[in-house]
Amino acid sequence: MTEIIDGNAVAQSIRDDLVASIDRLVDAGQRPSLATVLMSEDPASETYVSMKQDDCEEVGIEAIDIDIDPDADAAELYDTIEDLNADEDVNGILVQMPVPDHVEDRSVLRAIDPMKDVDGFHPENVGRLVAGDARYKPCTPHGIQKLIESAGVNTEGKDAVVVGRSDIVGKPMANLLIQKAPGGNATTTVCHSRTENLAERTRNADILVAAAGVPEMIDGEMIQEGATVIDVGINRVDADTEKGYELVGDVEYESAKEVAGAITPVPGGVGPMTRAMLLYNTVKATGLQHD
Ligand code: GUN
Repeated sequence: MTEIIDGNAVAQSIRDDLVASIDRLVDAGQRPSLATVLMSEDPASETYVSMKQDDCEEVGIEAIDIDIDPDADAAELYDTIEDLNADEDVNGILVQMPVPDHVEDRSVLRAIDPMKDVDGFHPENVGRLVAGDARYKPCTPHGIQKLIESAGVNTEGKDAVVVGRSDIVGKPMANLLIQKAPGGNATTTVCHSRTENLAERTRNADILVAAAGVPEMIDGEMIQEGATVIDVGINRVDADTEKGYELVGDVEYESAKEVAGAITPVPGGVGPMTRAMLLYNTVKATGLQHD
């Protein structure tokens, strides 16, 4: 029987565990706070940010919500980040990506105080992760490690294949999978849009992480019998529904679940975990800033 990995349930248990830590911080007068900065009118980004704020409220993290007009000067965003960096009552800062084309995203990530960079995207935090000394693990790959663990799958010595090489998911995922640490020690291959014979590679995976952002690109024939399949894709495709679209992953779920040993659904797999690990990093940031 294929195990359907319930991301909502695993995320809920992580939030439940965090509440105790948050209560202790609040008792010490150190309520964690997360500032989200949105410089976009993209409906998906708006939804993600509002879900992150709801999560904060649920567990007792103060959510600070900052909207910047997407047509504003980049300077407005940098000034906002500078103010948040200087504000002792702000523990975590998240600038929702993507930012408008006239704003240079790498400079934005460098502008955030690395101690408050709860996404783990600042080059200092990326460097620490690669060096095996992570301060804040990026939320999606960290959440995926927790999902794999929740399915009772040990990554050690296994063949892991990551499809996608983004800075947010693919690269940090591969880094975590090769580390000498629980959730790591896997023999890891990273595939991308120029990979030849992709199916040959993916069929070799005991653990397959699909994070290319291409709707349903991985089907059952590309999956090894019994593999653990993690679908990071959240693609809006036109559909005859009330909203005019539906969400599909990078994995063709129906054929994949016939072959996989365990698989994450979309929605309800990786998405809730990304948000839960953001809360985790915000609580960690608060602790580190009061050390
Ligand atoms: N855009 C898509 N995913 C993410 C994420 O994890 N963090 C931020 N800041 N922006 C994103």
